[in-house]
Amino acid sequence: LWTPANIVEDAIARVRATVGDDKVLLGLSGGVDSSVVAALLHRAIGEQLTCVFVDNGLLRLHEGDQVMEMFARNMGVKVIRVDAEDLFLDKLAGVADPEQKRKIIGNTFIEVFDTEATRLRDVNWLAQGTIYPDVIESAGGKTGKAHVIKSHHNVGGLPEDMAMSLVEPLRELFKDEVRRIGLELGLPYDMVYRHPFPGPGLGVRILGEVKREYAELLRRADAIFIEELHREDWYHKTSQAFAVFLPVRSVGVVGDGRRYEWVIALRAVETIDFMTARWAHLPYELLERVSNRIINEISGVSRVTYDVSSKPPATIEWE
Ligand code: XMP
Repeated sequence: LWTPANIVEDAIARVRATVGDDKVLLGLSGGVDSSVVAALLHRAIGEQLTCVFVDNGLLRLHEGDQVMEMFARNMGVKVIRVDAEDLFLDKLAGVADPEQKRKIIGNTFIEVFDTEATRLRDVNWLAQGTIYPDVIESAGGKTGKAHVIKSHHNVGGLPEDMAMSLVEPLRELFKDEVRRIGLELGLPYDMVYRHPFPGPGLGVRILGEVKREYAELLRRADAIFIEELHREDWYHKTSQAFAVFLPVRSVGVVGDGRRYEWVIALRAVETIDFMTARWAHLPYELLERVSNRIINEISGVSRVTYDVSSKPPATIEWE
């Protein structure tokens, strides 16, 4: 009988049999898949697990702290947090092309991860949050974005001088099963049912060149949007929602002053498979509140727009 409890029990037994007393390394992104692997491995092998969490400066507001709070503090998982914001932003300086930005972010991630992995001694296993749809996608030779990134973020290319084998405990599971297992393992509902976040993060939500100032502004605008969606019970009625930074200046008037500042676009979609999507018909009152809050609370933003494009032809992300 398939129940989350059975699956967990079975996966734990298999992991133990596979890795024995060896040490295991996991790249923890804060996304659902790697989080569930972390919780599962922690339960299976405890102290033998070490996670590496890379803060690339392109994460959502307080994301790094939340990951540390949940895994390191609450659960007692060994997590090495790497603050690599400067490194990523330096490498991205002057680069405007979306695909090039993706490559740089992916490669830099691998570089940072490798450095940490090499520092740790005697690690024989690399854990990955590969799930069944990822397996099918690579078998079919599709080069979907998700897979490309997955292979980046899951470090498809192992460091050459490190002999590590892969352990992929979610390999046979669909997303929904992974979520249920996450709940079974005690991860909070809000983390297990969080909207997907692309590997390159804010790097592809800041159009064109990425700058620290833009990232900071976007993080705050995004947090306001998400907070209001939760407040109005709309978060789980949308499949994905986020703010986008447009490197365009627009005029506004505040008090007696004329402002000439940046534009934020809001994007919210409903979708089953992320291949096609409808823009979410959010209530006007909600949009109004989000817009007012963003413009009033974030100096540097003078205008907010709502994206009413469906996929196709528009993609969900703006880059
Ligand atoms: P698009 O923009 O192609 O997005 O309609 C479909 C889904 O894929 C996510 N996405 C990415 N995920 N790396 C990822 O890990 C990427 O480079 C990437 N680009 C898009 C997007 O957030 C949406 O859920």
